[in-house]
Amino acid sequence: MELQYIGHSAFYIKTKNAGILIDPAISDNPLAKFDPNSQIDDILVTHGHADHLGDAIPIAKKTGATITTVHELALFCSKRGAKAQGGNIGGKITFSWGNVRFVNALHSSSTVDGAYAGGPVGFIIEAEGTKIYHAGDTGIFRDMKTIGELYAPDIVLLPVGSTYTMDIEEAVVAAQWLKAKKLIPMHYNTFPPIAIEIQELKDKLPKDIELLALKPGESIQL
Ligand code: NI
Ligand code: MN
Repeated sequence: MELQYIGHSAFYIKTKNAGILIDPAISDNPLAKFDPNSQIDDILVTHGHADHLGDAIPIAKKTGATITTVHELALFCSKRGAKAQGGNIGGKITFSWGNVRFVNALHSSSTVDGAYAGGPVGFIIEAEGTKIYHAGDTGIFRDMKTIGELYAPDIVLLPVGSTYTMDIEEAVVAAQWLKAKKLIPMHYNTFPPIAIEIQELKDKLPKDIELLALKPGESIQL
């Protein structure tokens, strides 16, 4: 399958038969790169903040894709006319293309209009024999060791921009606790409070973890 970095915390997964968007904040991010004609069947959203819920509702309404997110945020999306299904931490939802496990994230959540959006989550996404951990917005927490033990993700997508999430120092430890083989950094350099030098991550990350600092629009094959 193909994993494309759209920008910020937004990704697009293309399996043989399905297209999956994660945290699709696209129209408000001038750095984002994504082909709007891509196949979209499912949209995964980690929490209600605008830089994650993003364009999920209008894209779901336009394409007929289903939003999968935390129960309360799923209700919020349904009320606005999008197809949505809810889950919560510990739950696993099965799709035609694979499955998604909801895991913890240490952060906050609400919608732009102040609605309660449930808690924030991360996802273990399994498709075509590959496990991807999208951490959402989070600080480091010691149960990342548990996530590593239970799910041994092949690739981890970790926020590194600080201010609202982990910084580089925490992400370096988190990647090791997760037993990551590959790391894609996210949630950095989108706006000034999360500006960092990605070279610092390259310098600090152990050499047995491959750093894939993708530019918006770049893809890798998994
Ligand atoms: Ni957030
Ligand atoms: Mn965020």
